[in-house]
Amino acid sequence: MKEQMLPAKGKLGILLPGLGAVASTMIAGVIATRKGLSKPVGSLTQTGHIELGEGKGDRNPLIKDFVPLASLEDVVFGGWDIYEDNVYEAASNARVLDQELLKSIKPELEAIKPMKAVFDRSYVRNLDGTFYKQTATKWDAAQELIKDIENFKKENKVSRVVIVWTGSTEKYLEQSAVHESIASFEAGLKNNDVAIAPSMIYAYAAVSQGIPFINGAPNLTTDIPAIVQLANKTKTAIGGKDFKTGQTLMKTVVAPGLAARSLGVSGWYSTNILGNRDGLVLDDEQNFKTKEVSKLGVLEDILRPDLHPDLYGELYHKIRINYYPPHGDNKESWDNIDIFGWLNYKMQIKINFLCRDSILAAPLVLDLALFADLAQRAGMYGVQDWLSFYLKAPQSKDGAPVENDIFKQLNTLKEVLRNMMQEPTSEPGTLKHTLEVEEAIR
Ligand SMILES: NC(=O)c1ccc[n+]([C@@H]2O[C@H](COP(=O)([O-])OP(=O)(O)OC[C@H]3O[C@@H](n4cnc5c(N)ncnc54)[C@H](O)[C@@H]3O)[C@@H](O)[C@H]2O)c1
Repeated sequence: MKEQMLPAKGKLGILLPGLGAVASTMIAGVIATRKGLSKPVGSLTQTGHIELGEGKGDRNPLIKDFVPLASLEDVVFGGWDIYEDNVYEAASNARVLDQELLKSIKPELEAIKPMKAVFDRSYVRNLDGTFYKQTATKWDAAQELIKDIENFKKENKVSRVVIVWTGSTEKYLEQSAVHESIASFEAGLKNNDVAIAPSMIYAYAAVSQGIPFINGAPNLTTDIPAIVQLANKTKTAIGGKDFKTGQTLMKTVVAPGLAARSLGVSGWYSTNILGNRDGLVLDDEQNFKTKEVSKLGVLEDILRPDLHPDLYGELYHKIRINYYPPHGDNKESWDNIDIFGWLNYKMQIKINFLCRDSILAAPLVLDLALFADLAQRAGMYGVQDWLSFYLKAPQSKDGAPVENDIFKQLNTLKEVLRNMMQEPTSEPGTLKHTLEVEEAIR
């Protein structure tokens, strides 16, 4: 595999549908890092190490020195939005980063202007932007996106492109007949099927051209048979969904610890407040439902009540998100966890996380983009479930069980990287991925 992997030659375009808080924070962070103004904290690709050898800790290189990732110097950004603001304006409006930092990189941020989006207000009712394409059909919209990508490649002289969805959460949608196959999906694009969401049109445009696509929101997007089949056909890496930040990050850190000690959990109540545009979108019941479904599965997958009915069989799990403008992007979350120990004696854990949503999400966008590009060059296509470390509701491959335990997810990710570089692997749980990597290169 090592020999067959294409090198990270030339520039890499990272295209982002949705140039809002998360996207602008990520772009600003990369530019600030390149200029030596800041450090890429929270990014595994930039600061993480990987243990090699026989477990003696003798070799521990940086991940970016071990696998041939695109360098930050070679990354170019672009994207789409329904508001015409350039990235400097978007970052200023988002009020995540301080003005002093933004001013020091103003020319670079101002130069990144959105392309006209593909949008359908019925999917995001709380937004009123008007900067979007007017096309007769969804098929035409996909063709225009393909042209946008081609133009971006030419204008910026990039050799490769990856797309990460950083757009708003769309309303709740269940899989239906139009999503079943490439043929039904293409027919649906041509006859404007209402069940084809804008994010799916972006995913179709990208994957049909062999461009990796990762979904950072909880929408179905790539998690439908039509896009999975297309990814296999065009040999394209895809993945999703929903960046694992904030409260869910904490949940997937704490729950494995409780399970490791065989402590029981009878209730887990999670509530949070946030006041950014994402919070405004999630204030609509239909959009909140998409998020709720993505967040709910996590505990069951980690605690496995089916295997431990005495410990987790009665678990009551509730999640609330409330829009609260004064807090802006600074989300505050509270978790009340009712646990029980020896002889069923009850205890409680309270977690109050005062986080910054986009500060937690930005490095994940960067890492996902760089790893998706790496996977594509390594010939790994279809659902990249080894990237589930970054995701709240990981898309599984061929119906395989989903792993939500963050520590197991990290092991898997590193095992896949070792395997790519033909280093001995040690984790039995990753044998499946190892075989897949080998299959991909044959
Ligand atoms: N910040 C986090 O911690 C976090 C965690 C998990 C998931 N997410 C998801 O990431 C996404 C981005 O979050 P954010 O805080 O940047 O939100 P945001 O509202 O600041 O940015 C989203 C942008 O997408 C644009 N948009 C909406 N529909 C579009 C379309 N069809 N095409 C192009 N642009 C479109 C909006 O105009 C907006 O500018 C959301 O879906 C959010 O749920 C964020």
